[in-house]
Amino acid sequence: MKDDVVYRLLDEVDYEFARHGPPEWYPDVPRIPAARYTDQDFFDLEQQAFRKCWVTVGTVHELPEVGSYKVVDRWNGAAVFVVRGEDQQIRAFWNACAHRGGPVVESRHGACGVAERFRCAIHSWTYSLDGELAGVPGRRDFHENLDRCASALRSVRCEVWRGFIFVNLDLQAPSLLDWLGPIAEEATWFDGLRVAGTDSFVLNCNWKLAIEANIEVYHVTTVHPDTVAQTLDYRGSAEELYQGGHSRMIVPSKGYDSQQVRKEADQDPLDALMGNTNVSYLMFPNHLTPGGGRRDRGYSLTLQSFWPISPNQTLSEWSIMAPDWGDGPVPEHFAKSVKGFSQIMHEDTEYLETVQKAIESGATDGMLTSYHERRVYHHEASIDRLIGIENVPEHLRIPQILPIADANENAAGSR
Ligand code: FES
Ligand SMILES: [Fe+2]
Repeated sequence: MKDDVVYRLLDEVDYEFARHGPPEWYPDVPRIPAARYTDQDFFDLEQQAFRKCWVTVGTVHELPEVGSYKVVDRWNGAAVFVVRGEDQQIRAFWNACAHRGGPVVESRHGACGVAERFRCAIHSWTYSLDGELAGVPGRRDFHENLDRCASALRSVRCEVWRGFIFVNLDLQAPSLLDWLGPIAEEATWFDGLRVAGTDSFVLNCNWKLAIEANIEVYHVTTVHPDTVAQTLDYRGSAEELYQGGHSRMIVPSKGYDSQQVRKEADQDPLDALMGNTNVSYLMFPNHLTPGGGRRDRGYSLTLQSFWPISPNQTLSEWSIMAPDWGDGPVPEHFAKSVKGFSQIMHEDTEYLETVQKAIESGATDGMLTSYHERRVYHHEASIDRLIGIENVPEHLRIPQILPIADANENAAGSR
């Protein structure tokens, strides 16, 4: 993150602490229609749109050598796997044989290993690490003109950014850097992080309820009085909305002292920000990255991912991402973070499932969002843009009225 961005964010935190109401430019946004969290047809539209999104499925540390692979089953359909090729490039393929669709690796999510070749479980066609057809048992029974090119494994778009492996099921998708927009350059501390621990559970609520509970900190004093509220002061939180559905939130630590932080910033701007606030992106549509720390110990973050299962079921998954610690065991303070974060996620669970039931019962017309909660509205509005506004039933549409900063807009407190 560049120094001028850090200073702008410190200005924004001061602005947020001092303001007495929403800024004048902020529109009075309507409620988010409740049926967006329950409607099966709308969920199906979202699922189609999800297939056009870049999502992260791991880091390069998980594929350390040629032939290392990892299976990813997160799209309510066939699994995909990522693999490091002989040229060191990481590629992604559908786990579906070109003969008659059999699995060429185990389909269980997270299955991993090292392979020299992939062999289909049904008739043993084999594939090289770059997906090319390598062997066909009983070759004599096929015509001589068996097209080897058309019989390669079907590719999935795969790109690596700062060590994070992203895939996109849409072959026509923009590049990952275009997709990430300003985050790509800004989030320098993502470089080289690896998984120190991970946990997950299935939540009985819509995926948007789950993620939207994590992109505002208004609720922390009530829901997390003994955990998050002990460390963060939501009154100074500063949000920014990006094109493409992404957003950023900076939440100052409890006892934040602006003058002291600015003194620290004179020495090391990024360290002052990371050491005195929690910095989190929403990488649209389903990842959050709350993090912080100090340069001497290394910055870390929690990668939260929310995977839709059905209109009222979501897989919530999180990994503590830490600086590379070498060959030994995970450093204790990072290992402890997994447990701590799991507790926080469980604190949210009960009320999210209750809210889902309230929506399903017709007990609420929809979600009201304040200025501070504008990332929630932005998330919903961005989903409509992804689906194509004309494809969203009129009664479910989100009016596109929020001003969104572009990469060059730097006025403190403006967005
Ligand atoms: S389906 Fe894979 S070899 Fe037949
Ligand atoms: Fe929460």
